[in-house]
Amino acid sequence: RLDVTEKFQGISFPGHLHTKDSLEFAVSFLFKDTDVLIVSYPKSGTTWMQEIVTLVSSRGDPQFSRTVPNWARAPWLEHYYCVAVLEASSPERRIITTHLPYHLLGPALQGSKAKVIYVSRNPKDVAVSFYHFHKIANFLPEPGSFHEFLDHFLEGTLYYGSWFDHIKGWTSHTEAINNLLHITYEQMSLDLHGTIKKVSSFLQCPLVEDEVNNCVKHSSFSSMRDNNMINYTLVPKDIMDHSKGSFMRKGEIGDWKNMFTEEQNQYFESVFTSKMQGSFLIFVYLI
Ligand code: PPS
Repeated sequence: RLDVTEKFQGISFPGHLHTKDSLEFAVSFLFKDTDVLIVSYPKSGTTWMQEIVTLVSSRGDPQFSRTVPNWARAPWLEHYYCVAVLEASSPERRIITTHLPYHLLGPALQGSKAKVIYVSRNPKDVAVSFYHFHKIANFLPEPGSFHEFLDHFLEGTLYYGSWFDHIKGWTSHTEAINNLLHITYEQMSLDLHGTIKKVSSFLQCPLVEDEVNNCVKHSSFSSMRDNNMINYTLVPKDIMDHSKGSFMRKGEIGDWKNMFTEEQNQYFESVFTSKMQGSFLIFVYLI
């Protein structure tokens, strides 16, 4: 396992899930054209998209997502158990998840027709969600004050690397990836029905209206919060301590307003504007 001081290609990853071998396995993975890859920086709506893709693939039937934990039906490619999960099942369409940045995983996707769904979220909300998650996840370092945490977020020194590198990498190489759909957390939140239709059409899995409605019902915040195959309550307390907070915490847009001071907001925006220069996303997340 990676120890706390060990990095992979300059990025820290939690040692209870990642090994040097598992990361090497991920970056040289042989994708199948039928694979669906969900890509995100942490706390951007990963679990939500895992649920949507699972439900779309089962035409709105929640049976699979209520009986199999999300990490077993949409495993993270870079986690050590991924090989075993992929070997144990042979679905028509493999659903795989990753938090890896483009510069590490992009080369493995070159020439592949695998379908990639990139999920992003307003970085201010990502920072707040990630901060709270650091408090319950014992495999992540103590976050310190929110101010200190925000500095690390903006410097790109947190586990999983820089939010800026992640989003710029995955959204600026569309020519190298044949099939990439970019969905934002905000889209999911404001129009879950429309997002599910978009995902189902991207996956070439057209659904009738009742099936779309079932997907919407079972991927709502309350339904996911109460599903212990998704809410991480199955994970032992020494890994995630739910007495300190919930994985399914608030599920809202704009919670950053409850956390950021005016000064932090101004500083964040100046860093954001300079790091996102030249990216069309500056308009998507114009803050
Ligand atoms: S992780 O650890 O990277 O897999 O986390 P991730 O799943 O990307 O992000 C967790 C945040 O997504 C929220 N979430 C949802 N919001 C609204 N509706 C639904 N259905 C939903 N599912 C997950 C979850 O609550 C975390 O956000 P915060 O802001 O902390 O509540």
